[in-house]
Amino acid sequence: MNSFVLHGDICFCPTPKRLLAIEDGYVVVRDGVTELCCGALPDTAKELPLHDYRSKLVFPGMVDLHVHAPQYAFRGLGADMELLEWLRHYAFPEEAKYGDLRYADKAYSMFTGALKNSATTRAVIFGSLHHDATKLLMDKMEDSGVVSYVGKVNMDRNSPDNLCETTEESYRSAERIIRETAGKYRNTKPILTPRFVPSCTDELLNRLGRLAEKEDVPVQSHLSENPEEIKWVARLCPDSRFYGEVYDKYGLFGSSTPTVMAHCVFSGDEEIALMKERGVYIAHCPASNMNVGSGIAPISRYMREGLSVGLGSDIAGGQSESIFTAMVEAMQLSRLYRRHIDGESTPLTFAQTLYMATKGGGQFFGKAGSFERGYEFDAIVIDDSTLPHPQPLTLAQRAERAVWLSGDKTGLIAKYVRGNRIL
Ligand code: GUN
Ligand code: FE
Repeated sequence: MNSFVLHGDICFCPTPKRLLAIEDGYVVVRDGVTELCCGALPDTAKELPLHDYRSKLVFPGMVDLHVHAPQYAFRGLGADMELLEWLRHYAFPEEAKYGDLRYADKAYSMFTGALKNSATTRAVIFGSLHHDATKLLMDKMEDSGVVSYVGKVNMDRNSPDNLCETTEESYRSAERIIRETAGKYRNTKPILTPRFVPSCTDELLNRLGRLAEKEDVPVQSHLSENPEEIKWVARLCPDSRFYGEVYDKYGLFGSSTPTVMAHCVFSGDEEIALMKERGVYIAHCPASNMNVGSGIAPISRYMREGLSVGLGSDIAGGQSESIFTAMVEAMQLSRLYRRHIDGESTPLTFAQTLYMATKGGGQFFGKAGSFERGYEFDAIVIDDSTLPHPQPLTLAQRAERAVWLSGDKTGLIAKYVRGNRIL
């Protein structure tokens, strides 16, 4: 089946501190899973087909831990407002269009096509609140070959009339999507998606929490992104000491199923301690932190304290689906964080950042994002020969430079997901 040996210049991060760079290396893949990654071809693998990418860079596939599919259509537009106003003016009117399946078909084809052609091999995706459009998005994600969790968004308050359901409708739609897609796909799964506390009543959050536990479905949402949002949550939920506690009260904060929270820019000590205790994944979305002017998330602290952190494009808060671009922005923002917010903090290293983009987010999917033994084989192959240099470079330097210089044009020449070549 998909058993083979891949040959190339291999780079990956088994830990945030360790970049392994194996020039002229081999990954032995059996049934889509890495058996061995090494510098010489072992005798036991000599009978396997060779996928020869000599002198090309090979990374684990990139993981996008937070992206809004229905916002892809207006990426690069309207980064002139802060979060709550931006939602009202740009995001909600665009998302309301997905009630029209013809529009959804057109727009989601563009989104899934872009993801397929990017360096991303796994993604955790917000749809819109529309039931049928979200199922269409799941069909298209499955066709793309990219592994994903896709969420029908839940909103039952503080939302425009054309983007708001009753509590019952919202809950039933989430429940039905789980039932209707059970066993339907290989690479696509549902995820419960309360948009954020301001747009979900306590009753809806409570019912979704019970559903997560009963059906064993993971959860995604937004947390502590913007100061006005946080004040609003405090007014809406006066009994909670901090924002994350609201999700936690309803079992939507990692206590029963794996959970991703996007942003966490302004999380306080108690919220951070609870995320650590519950194993909540943080999706760091640097472009969005800048574009909707939220602020800079303290990612070096999260990494130092051992929280689980991955990267998100957060389209259309972020402008690009490229996780290479997100990596560069994360490194840049961590430097500004030190200059302007905390002189004691340490800027992110390239190894930490590549780790976040691969294994950091990949663990949300199980064993993904690394070339260690037993990991599902997701890989991208990059031709960096178009980035000339007069001086000799080590493989680690070539890898770093390819990420910094490639941006959205990654020089991608092949992409593997679970051992299948999809590009
Ligand atoms: N908070 C609630 N909804 C959204 C959204 O669509 N984008 C971002 N960045 N934050 C949100
Ligand atoms: Fe978001």
